[in-house]
Amino acid sequence: MRTHYCGHLRATDIGETVTLFGWVDRRRDHGGVIFVDLRDRTGVVQIVSDPERTPESFGTANDLRNEYVVRICGTVSQRPAASLNEKLPTGQVEIYADEIELLNAVRKQLPFQVSTAESESVREELRLRYRYLDLRRDRMAQNLQTRHAVIKAIRRFLEDAESFMEVETPILTRSTPEGARDFILPSRVNPGEWFALPQSPQLFKQLLMVAGVDRYYQIARCFRDEDLRADRQPEFTQLDMEMSFLSQEEILDLNERLVCHVFKTVKGIEVSRPFARLTYAEAMDRYGSDKPDTRYGLELVEVSDLVADSGFKVFSGAVKSGGMVKVLPIPDGNDVISNVRIKPGGDLFKVAAAAGAKGLAYIRVRENGGIDTIGAIKDNLTPEQTQELLERTGAQPGTLLLFGAGPSAVVNATLDRVRQAIAKEMNLIPDDALNLLWVTDFPMFEWNADEQRLEALHHPFTAPRPEEAHDLKTARAQAYDLVLNGYEIGGGSLRIYQPEVQRQVFETIGLSEAEAQDKFGFLLEAFEYGTPPHGGIAYGLDRWVMLMAGEESIRAAIAFPKTQQARCLLTSAPASVDKKQLKELHVASTYQPKLQDEAQ
Ligand code: AMO
Repeated sequence: MRTHYCGHLRATDIGETVTLFGWVDRRRDHGGVIFVDLRDRTGVVQIVSDPERTPESFGTANDLRNEYVVRICGTVSQRPAASLNEKLPTGQVEIYADEIELLNAVRKQLPFQVSTAESESVREELRLRYRYLDLRRDRMAQNLQTRHAVIKAIRRFLEDAESFMEVETPILTRSTPEGARDFILPSRVNPGEWFALPQSPQLFKQLLMVAGVDRYYQIARCFRDEDLRADRQPEFTQLDMEMSFLSQEEILDLNERLVCHVFKTVKGIEVSRPFARLTYAEAMDRYGSDKPDTRYGLELVEVSDLVADSGFKVFSGAVKSGGMVKVLPIPDGNDVISNVRIKPGGDLFKVAAAAGAKGLAYIRVRENGGIDTIGAIKDNLTPEQTQELLERTGAQPGTLLLFGAGPSAVVNATLDRVRQAIAKEMNLIPDDALNLLWVTDFPMFEWNADEQRLEALHHPFTAPRPEEAHDLKTARAQAYDLVLNGYEIGGGSLRIYQPEVQRQVFETIGLSEAEAQDKFGFLLEAFEYGTPPHGGIAYGLDRWVMLMAGEESIRAAIAFPKTQQARCLLTSAPASVDKKQLKELHVASTYQPKLQDEAQ
């Protein structure tokens, strides 16, 4: 029987006889005395065996190798002064092993060293291929613990303090429009018909409000077939919530208290309330992003009006064709950012180009107050215009002004990315800062140029602000996102609960009456039977955990994640299936594997 976990042993346990189970993290032979760091999920503790004091265990100790699984019985002792380890929680003690039982050996060569000290540089592909070994490593084991602690704190708060009830919703379902592609599954018993995996439990949670559940939550798996990034997975987990009869302010208040509770419980951090807020319009204006990182300044300044009539065609042309000109002023930027980096081929040019920009114009304010720029700007701005430009952007000697000119979406995306890159480079991001920010008042719709139609910015179940509902196309939504240090960790809204408003929204996004009925008839019908006003939110739990764990990849917050190519390297999924299986499902693949020479 285990008496203790390895990582829990302290000086107060000295003299106790203990039984431990775990893995050999490292084994060292110090001239006849064997030291073993024994590891389990709580940490490591030092085991000692020598031929004189513990002759029974010495033979086995001598044969142990890294990652062997053992049971150890022994006595907890004070470490000699010379070998005290301040950095290790168990660093005061060691266990003299009276008995060591080898439970299982490692039979193959380890693909990488698991021991914490040596494993930081292992390639991620290898770690994912042998994830069970990777998860033994201290860092990943800690991340799993953090994830568990976050979920536990959420459950305690929502269930015990706020009367929320967890309800599971189906995985085999109809498509829910959250803006990504669906994963779909053929039905064997209903030939020719398909289930979709849920992009979120959105419609079911609204139906639970109709059902009178009043306060619902779920740790819900969601599936979205979209291009992957460092903070996106095809399969991810939401903390999904829905509440009846609460105003937007009440929902935000409850959620702030939830978030504070989680930070306090898991990290011991007091987050101050109320959280900062920006409207969508302010966020786009000042940062070019609806999820701005507000841990540092570097705010954008729009100068469209100032340069609209200037002789510099790049600027005036952008404004005349409905776009904008914006400046990113970088105090002391002159010292850090050379012309080569801004001009074609330079790294910052590439950052801008990746966002769709054709280039980055610039002005440098010199120490003597003079300015340097590319010829075209200097020659085509009047001294008054230049002066006003410097004033408006707060430029000082040493300041570099970077310009974005073109369609608004491109200008904002460009300067947002450049801003982030520069903040990192110039070390403008304070360590340990936690900036929680609500972004509110999103527009209901945005224009989808590819499909030539309006589409819902959040999703089509979001309610418009009542005073603007008479003109849905321009109305703002009662929607809110929660942003943590530049990452969108949650988003939600008050919902439409009147069937006629829901029909109008479907119509606005170009769904015909028949299509709306076909796809969402069940929701429209439910709204006829006494639907309470309701609203909710969903958090990207993996993202939240990633940030709490100080990681930069969402994969570090998930036990068994997919790669950027949406593959599971451990199980080699996705994989092909038998023709027989496909036949039973009434499905035939049109995929033609490329011929070797064609592929080359
Ligand atoms: P939304 O689509 O904004 O809203 O999703 C909510 C949160 O989920 C996270 N998220 C993701 N995390 C990892 N990988 C992904 N592919 C991914 N996509 C989204 C984000 C996001 O803020 N039903 C609505 C919520 C509501 O209105 O209540 C919804 O799903 O952190």
